[in-house]
Amino acid sequence: MATSFAERHRTIERNITLLAVLAFVVVIVGGIVEIAPLFWIDNTIEKVKGVRPYTPLEQAGRDIYVREGCYLCHSQMIRPFRDEVERYGHYSLAAESMYDHPFQWGSERTGPDLARVGGRYSDAWHVQHLTDPRSLVPESIMPPYGFLAKHELNQGDMRAELATLYDVGVPYRKDQIAAANDDMAAQANPDAPGAADFRKRYPTAQVRDFDGDPAKLTEMDALVAYLQVLGTMVDVNAAAANETLSKEKGR
Ligand code: HEC
Repeated sequence: MATSFAERHRTIERNITLLAVLAFVVVIVGGIVEIAPLFWIDNTIEKVKGVRPYTPLEQAGRDIYVREGCYLCHSQMIRPFRDEVERYGHYSLAAESMYDHPFQWGSERTGPDLARVGGRYSDAWHVQHLTDPRSLVPESIMPPYGFLAKHELNQGDMRAELATLYDVGVPYRKDQIAAANDDMAAQANPDAPGAADFRKRYPTAQVRDFDGDPAKLTEMDALVAYLQVLGTMVDVNAAAANETLSKEKGR
């Protein structure tokens, strides 16, 4: 008589080693099926125009964002669902975080998603909001970060940071790495002698005093410069149109 399914299952359930081995096999197969195709399909990271490495000032702001744990309350990944797209804008493209090391997709939204917050508010709004969130949004539970405007920006040697990012695949040019420390200051001061050179090195970057205090280069300058670039590099509507086009061609 053939052993019934239940009996065979009992054998597996009563033999811890066999159960572990079989469970392992199941997880491996599932993992391969889910992950392996990503290494071969060429549209895992769409090719879109406009994504550039962060400027030294934006990168410094990003470091402050990570240091202050903003990612614990804010995600940077708009999912392709209608409610999210209507609230935050076009869903995030993989290419938009390809130079993020580590990426800031996050997994917690105590506050709103920030993937496309760039350009949504003025610099002054951000400075006021970061200094005293409840002065603008009375019900806010976000902590105040006014001290950032008092701290001079002291990120150490940005050349070393850009060189390290280059090593992990961010395509900074040699001249961008060499001028990183000067560029960090020049972006926040349009009158600085280096501002024209900075503009040449990063033609699409925004150059202005971000924190409302032109006399000082502060951590607030860096963080606001970073917030204002989020989600602005790619013309998402053009990218979406292209996507439809290439799908139609593929048919
Ligand atoms: C304890 C959770 C928490 C932390 C930590 C936090 N935030 Fe927030 N943030 C919120 C909440 C809640 C809101 C929504 C209410 C408001 O606008 O203040 C918000 C709103 C914002 C907004 C406005 C977004 C929009 O689309 O209206 C920005 C920008 C922002 N936070 C940036 C930051 C930055 C930068 C940091 C780190 C320096 C940070 N937050 C840390 C909870 C947090």
